[in-house]
Amino acid sequence: MATATKIIQVTDLHLMEDASATMLGARPAETAERVVRAIRESSSPPDIVIATGDLTHDGEVGSYRRVKSLMDSLPCPVRCALGNHDVRQGFRAGWAGESAPSDAPLDDAFDFEGLRLILLDSSVPGESGGHLDPAQIQWLKKECEPIASKPKLIFLHHPPVEVGSPWIDLMMLSNADQFFDAIAPAKGTILGIFFGHVHQDFEGDWEGIPILGSRPTSVPFTPRTDRCVPSSEPPGYRIIEIREGRLSSRIVQVPPEG
Ligand SMILES: [Fe+2]
Ligand SMILES: [Fe+2]
Repeated sequence: MATATKIIQVTDLHLMEDASATMLGARPAETAERVVRAIRESSSPPDIVIATGDLTHDGEVGSYRRVKSLMDSLPCPVRCALGNHDVRQGFRAGWAGESAPSDAPLDDAFDFEGLRLILLDSSVPGESGGHLDPAQIQWLKKECEPIASKPKLIFLHHPPVEVGSPWIDLMMLSNADQFFDAIAPAKGTILGIFFGHVHQDFEGDWEGIPILGSRPTSVPFTPRTDRCVPSSEPPGYRIIEIREGRLSSRIVQVPPEG
């Protein structure tokens, strides 16, 4: 059987400068470390990890250094998209070590094992909701020209579809119609669209293409609520496997040990 490319999505780490700081009664540093350890120690390690935003809770440079040192413990490359709790300059300084970081959007696209991975920066400085500005939409259109025939996976923080919780749906990608228009020419080559932000597992589709959300490494939320209700479910991550051009995906829960 052909070997699969294994991608792991982690999301919504919400790390803070103070490792003992809590969010909704839990310690994000502790749960993120637990999830990353589970990935590190799994019997079949990933080829790459994609982190889909809210890497930190406070946007501080020191918090991004924490994210970097945690991710450096993984035996594979890690690439990041940013979320509403992230700060672009903080990320560029703390993750990439840039001395004069800009606040320009941080979109990324690269070839990986025969795939094209596209990471979009849907964050809007100072806002909870997501948006792609006109230059980003143009860039995405270029990536999705019909001539670009490699199988594609698209990652972004904000969901481009409603997930059924009105308070979260107010903070989805506000120009999802432009996003779908931009990727439409590549429809036949897009294997999946992956997001974070909602702190819960989600499975939907657009024109037959899976649109999947993952629970966070921090605090999961209860689906289909009209306000933020922390869930008693454990944190976790999403496994994405591509085998012979076909995608399969599932969530892995990481409960506390003992
Ligand atoms: Fe989050
Ligand atoms: Fe978010």
